[in-house]
Formats: sequence, structure tokens, C-alpha cells
Amino acid sequence: MSARIRLLPNSAAPDGRGRMSNIAQQIPLFKVFMAPEAALMPRLRDVLYSGAISEGPPVAEFERRFAEFIGQPQMLSFYSGTAALHTALLLAGVGPGDEVISTAMTAEPTNLVILQTGAQVVWADVDARNGNLAPDAVAAKITPLTRAILVVHYGGIPASIAALRAIAERHGIAVIEDAAHALGARYGGKPIGAHSEYTMYSLQAIKHMTTVDGGMLACRNPDDLPRGRRLRWFGIDRAAPRTEVDVAEVGYKYHMNNVNATIGLVQLDYIRPVLERHIANGRYFDAALRGIPGLRLCAWDAAAEPSYWFYTVLAERRDDLARRLGELGIGNSLAHKRNDRHSVFAASRCELPGLDRFYDAMLHIPCGWWVDDAARERIAGALRQGW
Ligand SMILES: Cc1ncc(COP(=O)(O)O)c(C=O)c1O
Repeated sequence: MSARIRLLPNSAAPDGRGRMSNIAQQIPLFKVFMAPEAALMPRLRDVLYSGAISEGPPVAEFERRFAEFIGQPQMLSFYSGTAALHTALLLAGVGPGDEVISTAMTAEPTNLVILQTGAQVVWADVDARNGNLAPDAVAAKITPLTRAILVVHYGGIPASIAALRAIAERHGIAVIEDAAHALGARYGGKPIGAHSEYTMYSLQAIKHMTTVDGGMLACRNPDDLPRGRRLRWFGIDRAAPRTEVDVAEVGYKYHMNNVNATIGLVQLDYIRPVLERHIANGRYFDAALRGIPGLRLCAWDAAAEPSYWFYTVLAERRDDLARRLGELGIGNSLAHKRNDRHSVFAASRCELPGLDRFYDAMLHIPCGWWVDDAARERIAGALRQGW
């Protein structure tokens, strides 16, 4: 590995005056992984000056390689995960008058795209052990208007896919998985992306893998691909001569370009060890943080294998713990505001006692590729000392 990707972000580094600092180095909660300069820059230079920077062969090649990486052949690329998720809802037939059951424990785009279709967001409560949709709560919210269930794998912990899919199949509705946090996670021995009608991945800056911005959509049904391609480009079929196309449906400017795709092609060459380190760190914390007074660890289905985008602990006096970790230079955050507290979702308000318990205790700590052995021991030691 080149110096650019060595897992040493917490080793001594020059301070602002060029001297080596002897204070504890910050361990950030998020850090962008970018492939080594020597591998990336020639490819990037080539595409930037190729005269073809919009959607072309590099995008098709990236879709093919990302599909291969996930093991799910029907893959569409987008400019963002949000665009991919919006398109998934449209492909699932969601529109005005429909209801989509979703979780409030997520980033805002998960739920804003539901409103963008004209449908109503219906909150189902979460499992207080991990912040993911609780299947019983979802089943209780099904109505004749329910068109889809939008499932988030919060922080990289797979939701209870088997039970959620059973509910969806019973009612003949689609499951759309928001796997923005869950690249590399598995459920039932298969990758996330192999289970539902639609699975979205985000390639935004701080995700496991980034193309600067980007999103992917795995579609189970190959018949979705032509419409998905039209929806992402103004409703136009790019393969047909421009003057012979007919725009029959409103489309969007959601396509990925050759520049982002080229970054993605290089990133894919380096992503496995990045994911492996997230997972190794997560498993380390699963063992090392057990039994600390005042601290609970998340729990999940036996079939789930998380990819630990960050590591979530559930703490008594959470704000005191956050302050203490901050003093010790250990990045931590709530990362997301529960979406039901935004006024744009006021019409969906309801009691969510599982979410109350999870949200009041959750704290996310660093777990990614930049957390080396010394850093993770320092984090575990800090938690063991108490707060
Ligand atoms: C859970 C979740 N869903 C959707 C998104 C949107 O993805 P993007 O930023 O790629 O549009 C994000 C984050 O950005 C997210 O965290």
C-alpha cells in the first residue's frame, strides 16, 4: 500500500508550525478514503481531457464492475444516492395518494424523496436495540394505501430483512432498501442488494466508498432498467436518435458522469481492504466494549453481518459520554436528527417509543478504515474509564 492509504491517521503529524505535536491525535468520526494519487490521477486526467465527460463508456463500465462487486447484475448509476432512491420509488409505482412506511432514524434524504413523489410518509417504530425498522411495527402500519416499505440499514447494521420481506410479500408491496450506510454488509449469507426489489447505495463523500458524489440502484427486475435509464435522463432514451425520441414521462437529470465513474472505477480496486477494516474494527468493539457499566451495544438478527459505517453505542448519560470522548480527541456524534422532528414531516407525527429509547441513548464513534489498532484500543480504553 502506498503512504496515501496507510492506516495511520492517528500517528504523530506535524502541528501548524511544522513541529510534531505530542498531544493526542484526533480520531475523526468520518474520513474520506481516496485511492492513491499514482493510481487515480492519470485516469482522472485522461477522462477530464478526453472531450467526453458526461455519461459515456466509463459509466457503463463502472455500472458493470459495481454490479460484479455486489453480485447483483441489474445495476443503474446515478449522480447521488438520493437520486437513486427517488427513482426506486418511481419504479415501484409510488405516487400521490400512496403511503410509504419508513423509519425516522435516518438521514433526511431517505424520507424527503417520498414527499417528492407526492406520497405520504408513514412512520413505523424502530427496534430500540439498533434503530432499524421493527417488523411488528411495520405490519401494524400497513393500509390499503401502502405502496412500499423503505428500509434503512442504519449505521451499516442490516435491518430484519427476512421479516420485513415476509410482510411485504404478504401484501404484494415492494421493499426498497436504503443501503447508504451498508455497503459490504450481508444478510442470510448474501450481500445487501440481493434481497429486495430495489437497493440503493450512496457513493457520497463520507460513505464507505465514494465517487465524490454518486449513487447506485440494484433492481431485481431487469424490466425496470429501460425506464430507470429514461427517468435518470429527462425521460429520454439516450440510445435513440435525439430527434426521434418521445418524452412520455417526466424525467430528471440524475445520471452519473464519466468523471465520477472514473473515480469509482479506481476506488473499486481498493475498496475491499477498506470494508474489511471497518468490519474488523466493528467486531473488535463488539467484543472489547462488552460489559462496560452504563453502556449497551447494539444487537441484530443472527442472519445479519454489519459493515459498521460507524459504531453505535447506547449510553446512559449519553451527553456526558460525548463530552468526555470529545475532550479525549475521539470523534463522536449523533450524525442524524430523527426525521419525525422536522416540520416538513409534521403530517406523519405519531408515538415512536422504540425510537425515543434508541435516540436518547445513541452515540456514534469512529470505526472506519482510518482507525488503526492503537486508535481502537484508545477508544475502548476511554470507554472503559467511564464518564
Ligand atoms: C441513510 C441515507 N440515505 C440516503 C442518503 C443520501 O445519499 P446521497 O448523499 O448519496 O444522495 C444518505 C446520505 O447522504 C444517507 O445517510
